[in-house]
Amino acid sequence: EFMREVSGLSHMEQQLKSILGIARVHIVPQDSDDMPAVKGDIGKEAARLLESRFAQHKIVAVTGGSTMAAISKELSTDRKDNALQFVAARGGLGEDVLHQANTIASAFAAKTGGSVKTLYLPDHLSAEAFEMMLREPVIKDMMDHYDRTDIVVHGIGNAEEIALQRKSSSEEVEHIRSGGAVSEAFGYYFNAQGEVVYRIRTAGIQLEQVKNAAFILAVAGGHSKAQAILSYCKIAAKGTVLVTDEGAARQIIELT
Ligand code: BG6
Repeated sequence: EFMREVSGLSHMEQQLKSILGIARVHIVPQDSDDMPAVKGDIGKEAARLLESRFAQHKIVAVTGGSTMAAISKELSTDRKDNALQFVAARGGLGEDVLHQANTIASAFAAKTGGSVKTLYLPDHLSAEAFEMMLREPVIKDMMDHYDRTDIVVHGIGNAEEIALQRKSSSEEVEHIRSGGAVSEAFGYYFNAQGEVVYRIRTAGIQLEQVKNAAFILAVAGGHSKAQAILSYCKIAAKGTVLVTDEGAARQIIELT
């Protein structure tokens, strides 16, 4: 705490909170774009915040991404709680398996002693296949869990990077580009004003369901994420808590 005062991070946390219009910002020192270990620090901070909620809140929806993976590494295995239920925030096979929501949700459950609900579905379904799938009982069960979600933990991506990483079709990439998408979170793409410009056609948590959660924890760091964080925070629920790093924080302040 003393070091944070000295380095001015506490002041920056307040500043960022008001720029972004969310409930709280936690900043870890340095920039994860320059030093990969900093992502581990974001993970550690987020893990402690999450653990403090587990006594009251049991249904936890989680997305994919390397920052989310960093949280799972830092979760403590000391206090097992089999009432915890982790739910992959969306089905998906489109990205690197280690960073998929399904994998992350399973890792969270393994660490904490909770159970897990996963959904293995292709990321890019035809409209017909998608409609049919929504009527499947397993999908309905997933949707029901999204409705009852207490906590959402998610990463924030750079729209273009995520689109390419997911091997999206050229049509999709075109949508994302022409819509001016800047950020991505839980399968939604947002422009600089925070408007939804595209959504991956897969079963996943809805924006409304995210906003209804009692606790929303967003994790993203590195100066390269500044625009994306700004964009996402335009639509983020006011109660959202962000864990980020100094690199992103300084860049956000510079941009605003
Ligand atoms: C993707 C998730 O894998 O990672 C996205 O599906 C998320 O929802 C993104 O925004 C962020 O990734 P990272 O690795 O930068 O934390």
